[in-house]
Amino acid sequence: MIIGIECTAHTFGVGIVNKGKILSNIRDMYTTESGGIVPVESAKHHREIAEKIYCAALDEARIEEKEIDAIALSNAPGLSPCLLAGLEFAQLKARKLEIPIVPVNHCVAHLEIGQSIGAKDPVLLYASGANTQIIAYASGKYRVFGETLDIGIGNFIDKFARYIGIGFPGGPKIEEKAKTGKYVEMPYSIKGMDVSFSGMQTKLQQLRDKGISIEDLSYSLQENAFSMLVEAAERALAHTGKRELVIGGGVGCNARLQDMCKIMCEDRGAKFFCPSKQLLVDNAAMIAFTGEIMFNSGIRKNYKEVEIKPRERTDDVEVIWK
Ligand code: ATP
Ligand code: FE2
Repeated sequence: MIIGIECTAHTFGVGIVNKGKILSNIRDMYTTESGGIVPVESAKHHREIAEKIYCAALDEARIEEKEIDAIALSNAPGLSPCLLAGLEFAQLKARKLEIPIVPVNHCVAHLEIGQSIGAKDPVLLYASGANTQIIAYASGKYRVFGETLDIGIGNFIDKFARYIGIGFPGGPKIEEKAKTGKYVEMPYSIKGMDVSFSGMQTKLQQLRDKGISIEDLSYSLQENAFSMLVEAAERALAHTGKRELVIGGGVGCNARLQDMCKIMCEDRGAKFFCPSKQLLVDNAAMIAFTGEIMFNSGIRKNYKEVEIKPRERTDDVEVIWK
């Protein structure tokens, strides 16, 4: 029985996994009007909510504290104050229950949760607010094959949404507006497997100032930006010879992006795996799920040894469980 804690940014979550089965996945998000995150405020949120979320997760899984074998903690990467809040909570429980902690990299967990829906060795398209990366396991490490050179796809969408005054989070609203739009030319920016959005950002604002409709701009944003992501993902599949794609991150909730991934995969005889919304966004079940795999290969630390790694890179993760 592994209990997972997610704390890297705005979400505090507790999830419970047993033999690869998700027994509960409870989360609560720190929110602001504008969507801008104040790290110390988010950490305060985590501290205030932690015990309540923890109890709710135990209740939903119908287990008692004493059944837990280890705590999986998202100790990297993320905002230091948030990571610290998570660490303190994990340490408190680990000491009380006399169980070890398994430190889990948040990005790796987005990839590994693909296994819960059948993926075995996938390429991950990680498209969240802050992160846009193409990740896969190759030659003994998780490697970043491509990423955004400026801002994350979700933050890019949210910024445009703010510019046109439709509020936060922008993603779902832009998706709705895009349904009745038509395409206007956008700068398409991909180099190898890296993408950038600043050219589109400028173009979108200029076109809006010229009176182009929100619907057309939303449609064009999605078609253009998502094509870039899917092209980068396809290149990673070709490069690694892998035949599975998993999507992760909040932007992965977008039906058009999911469709484009599906079409690309069908075209090249690959399989597309799309986790449920609860597992796409930041969540603790994916931390527990990955933590269990690590725990089973012998990774466990005394609570005193665990530290946060705010800037840990995906390819810094020492992998001994594969
Ligand atoms: P991380 O720390 O993992 O990067 P995050 O806060 O940056 O987390 P998530 O919580 O994974 O990101 O996702 C939030 C983002 O997802 C927001 O930018 C939001 O606009 C976007 N989003 C949510 N739903 C949709 C949608 N249907 N279409 C496009 N974007 C969406
Ligand atoms: Fe995430």
